[in-house]
Amino acid sequence: VIDRTEVQSLILAPSLAKHLSLHFLTLRTREHVRALAWHAADVVTTAATAVAPDDVVGHPSVHLGLTGDGVRLAGVPGRVFDALPSAFTRGMAHAAARLGDQGASGPECWASPFGPDDPPVHAVVLVADGAEPGSLAPYLRADRNDKSHPTAAAVRWTGDRRPDGTEVFGFRDGLSDPAIEHSGIDATPGNGVWDAEQRGWRPVATGEAVLGHRDESGAVAGHPDAAHLERDGSYLVVRKLQQHPEEFRKACERWATDLGPKVTPEAVAAGLVGRHKDGTVVGLDGRDPEANDFLYRDERASTIAVAPSAHIRRANPRDSIAAANAIVRRHVLFRRGIPYLDPPATSGAEREAGLLFLAICADLRRQFEFVQTEWLQDGNRFGLGEERDALVGAREGATEEQSQVSLGLDGVRHRRPLATFVTTRGGEYVLLPSRSALRLLGDLRDD
Ligand code: HEM
Repeated sequence: VIDRTEVQSLILAPSLAKHLSLHFLTLRTREHVRALAWHAADVVTTAATAVAPDDVVGHPSVHLGLTGDGVRLAGVPGRVFDALPSAFTRGMAHAAARLGDQGASGPECWASPFGPDDPPVHAVVLVADGAEPGSLAPYLRADRNDKSHPTAAAVRWTGDRRPDGTEVFGFRDGLSDPAIEHSGIDATPGNGVWDAEQRGWRPVATGEAVLGHRDESGAVAGHPDAAHLERDGSYLVVRKLQQHPEEFRKACERWATDLGPKVTPEAVAAGLVGRHKDGTVVGLDGRDPEANDFLYRDERASTIAVAPSAHIRRANPRDSIAAANAIVRRHVLFRRGIPYLDPPATSGAEREAGLLFLAICADLRRQFEFVQTEWLQDGNRFGLGEERDALVGAREGATEEQSQVSLGLDGVRHRRPLATFVTTRGGEYVLLPSRSALRLLGDLRDD
């Protein structure tokens, strides 16, 4: 059972905020981090206080996350800090080589507040749809001159849902979203784990999303020595992924032209993603575009038209890899992202557009990093050699083999080198603590 008064609502429900601000905060002292956590315990939106627990479209919400640096500054006991996952305590920049963040995507090129010369970020406050941040409001503004002001630096990223629910390449996004057991949100077909024996979809075990609960292996998620800090919380992946829609459009056009008059640029784009722009899964034409009830191999509602190289199949192979029944359920992500469109950095420059990629997972290494590294940046598991994902693969400075992208059309595999369509602009791993954990952090003493 999940205590809904403890869990921040973003963990359990797909955030479909219309507008989202992420305030990244550098705090001055240990007392200021503790005070922020203490105040947040009364302000954050929990699964119990969310206006519409299973549908947060356009409903105000406030969430607080702490980075590894933030938890370190708060001064939790060494034994507890050492029990936290190293991916989290070291931070995302440290994971760059694993994640494929190289060249223009590398941390040395990241934007504020994650640039190489920026001060450490301790906390992020997520404010959706005009929510009142209450006692957190003073923290969201920095004051460089007043040394008694808690916040030394504050940087804001904003995202806006596009009216048609598309991401920047023009595809409907957020269609596949696994339901979490005991979250109160039912698993609709496709949104969960496929049980090959029961021949049906079921929700993912709570512990894949909420720490301190049983996960798909039957073990309790999180580390026993950090139980009070982790229980009823989760880790959130924050990544600003700049997209290059013109490059993507031109690449699809060129490829279509080379394949002859019968192939349209739309067909190429759909083949690379695995869904058409309106969401319809390739090969399931005529079905409801939002339908997510399909498999790649099983005869039930199956589609073989989605090639192993398509983004949706690499990101979630469903039943299509060896031992899928045991493996796929351990690498589930709960995506909570939103597109962004930033004003030009300098006059005359172009606006920067992309995805504020947000994903919940209980285990950063096993869930987010595994999907990013083993499935999206390496094609080995899919019989694609070193090929990287068509959409998010980092091909800048990559070898010739790594720069190849496959496209499956009507059962025929085509292959060619493609440009990079997504550049990482920065990001971090944060812990979304429960309200009790926030109070615990707020109440830490040095003696
Ligand atoms: C700018 C970068 C990205 C774009 C434009 C993008 C786009 C899309 C689109 C259009 C879909 C299909 C809609 C849906 O099923 O909800 C999708 C699905 C998905 N994406 Fe991405 N994506 C991006 C990055 C990522 C990253 C970095 C990951 C993981 C590390 C990821 C994981 C997934 C997953 C798990 C699915 C659901 C697949 C399924 O269950 O069928 N995506 N993405």
